Amino acid sequence: MPLRSKITGTGAHLPDQVVTNDDLAKKVDTSDEWIVERTGIRERRIVREGETTSALAFQAAENALEAAGLTGQDIDLVVVATTTPDNTFPSTATKVQAMLGMDHGAAFDVQAVCSGFVYALSVADNFIRAGQTKRALVIGAEVFSKILDWEDRTTCVLFGDGAGAVVLEAQEVEEGEQTGILSTHLHSDGKLRDLLYVDGGPGTNGQVGHVRMLGREVFRHAVTNLASVVGEALEANGLTQDDIDWLVPHQANKRILDGTARKLGLPAERVVVTVDRHANTSAASVPLALDEAVRDGRIKAGDLVLMEAMGGGLTWGAALVRW
Ligand code: UT7
Repeated sequence: MPLRSKITGTGAHLPDQVVTNDDLAKKVDTSDEWIVERTGIRERRIVREGETTSALAFQAAENALEAAGLTGQDIDLVVVATTTPDNTFPSTATKVQAMLGMDHGAAFDVQAVCSGFVYALSVADNFIRAGQTKRALVIGAEVFSKILDWEDRTTCVLFGDGAGAVVLEAQEVEEGEQTGILSTHLHSDGKLRDLLYVDGGPGTNGQVGHVRMLGREVFRHAVTNLASVVGEALEANGLTQDDIDWLVPHQANKRILDGTARKLGLPAERVVVTVDRHANTSAASVPLALDEAVRDGRIKAGDLVLMEAMGGGLTWGAALVRW
């Protein structure tokens, strides 16, 4: 019988420090009014000194494991999606593996910036489908505050820190049965890498670097690419936009979320929105939103959940899940 991945637990963790738009307006030439109108962001969480991606990832993982009724020892694959690892190496995933007390299996990072969680989910799902993994932890964790130019108002107001995680468990299904992760769809176009990038790294100036973005251009590509990959995911499963119960999108900008929902003919109340409180947490945004909607009871067994994201690379992707 074919193997499919079932999401059996979700978890999240946010730093406790809240930074409001008014707080930022004291540092750069911006205003709460501009940020809310152009992005929908009202506040974000920012790590304190010494708080790391692996620490956020570990807490989110623990919460997801608790929800699934498992411990680290039950897991045989850890995939962490992050662009802001603690160190250049080893991977953040291996640090989390050790923190979980897991001494078997494999752990590695996936780097696809804001699309990272969808990429990591796809990788883990394929391990499960191939029979190579029984239980996987997929984590999106970021401390984007560490790579922001806090003097650049066009980027520093947009991002926040946080982590979200899911537990995937292999289950045998009947041929053709639509359950668990139905499909994942990944894309990238490296020709567009200069629209959103970090101007540092070991191969450039040896500094960590800062986020640089041509926001308007990225916005334009986001609306087109997300609509296209969502259509691809639905078509691959013989489904239509009317079948979607919940859209769990990457949280970059409320205007992008509204645009995607409009294209899908989906009412606003079917879209899970956290961008107002979390801002853009890159690879963490989809699992953070997912966890919120699962825990508050919006997402229920049998619901069709569509996740999508786009980010630096450019990279973009979607995942369709029957909960
Ligand atoms: O997660 C990865 C994917 N990332 C995204 O999807 C981000 C996509 N892009 C966006 O969300 C939007 O393009 C932004 C929110 C980044 C910018 O919004 P926009 O409506 O595209 O604004 P803009 O860049 O066209 O800038 C409009 C004006 C400019 O002033 P002028 O040239 O018209 O005088 C900017 O200098 O707003 C100015 N501006 C600001 N003003 C106050 C830019 N940033 C700020 C700011 N506060 N923080």
